[in-house]
Amino acid sequence: MSAARHPHASPTANAGAGLFITLEGIDGAGKSSHVEWLAAYWRERGREVVLTREPGGTELGERLRELLLHTPMGQDAELLLMFAARSEHLAQRIVPALRRGSVVICDRFADSTFAYQGLGRGLDTAWIAFLEARVVGAHRPDRTYLFDVPAAVAARRRSAVRPADRFEAEDEDFFERVREGYRQRALAEPHRFLCLDGQATMPNIREELARDSEHLLEKLLNT
Ligand SMILES: Nc1ncnc2c1ncn2[C@@H]1O[C@H](COP(=O)(O)OP(=O)(O)OP(=O)(O)O)[C@@H](O)[C@H]1O
Ligand SMILES: [Mg+2]
Repeated sequence: MSAARHPHASPTANAGAGLFITLEGIDGAGKSSHVEWLAAYWRERGREVVLTREPGGTELGERLRELLLHTPMGQDAELLLMFAARSEHLAQRIVPALRRGSVVICDRFADSTFAYQGLGRGLDTAWIAFLEARVVGAHRPDRTYLFDVPAAVAARRRSAVRPADRFEAEDEDFFERVREGYRQRALAEPHRFLCLDGQATMPNIREELARDSEHLLEKLLNT
């Protein structure tokens, strides 16, 4: 993953306004373990923080999340419901928050769809790219933290904490494909991604996040 480690912040579509940060990685990689810390970091620096997640983040989105995680459905329906939830999320929460100048921290976003429904399920990635262009448009994240861990490690972590949902019930091959999907996204956009070794200790991961957050803050202050 070292080719994707370019800690250059590139506030792009959201420059001059808010900051859009996403966390990505397979189930059990360690994303949620850091969201509160990141939120505190930005709040302590006087920024309004909107902490949210996908699928979810709105009333409709949370209802769709429930369906997506627990109700059997076809793969196309799964893909389209993910984008339906995302469309609502952007319109109702993410875009208004960025326009107010907030820092939006989102646990999973469009990279998850490419990785899970694209590489994991094997759906046409050109179709996903079309939906992403239509639904997300210019509102792409400024920074994405990718937690990379082998599927077997993530599976061990998950089994220790809770029963599996529809995605978590997939086998190791599925999660290795998802991991590969994330890797492809990171390689395609090295300036947006910061790839983290999800097997590093929590303090080491925090240190990397702190360093990158300082860098992002500096960039924001200079724009
Ligand atoms: N760096 C780490 N080292 C060891 N264990 C970790 C590390 N990071 C997270 N964990 C543990 O792994 C488990 C899963 O972590 P977490 O819930 O943050 O993953 P997640 O990526 O948010 O998963 P999901 O996608 O399923 O929500 C938790 O029990 C957490 O304490
Ligand atoms: Mg989580």
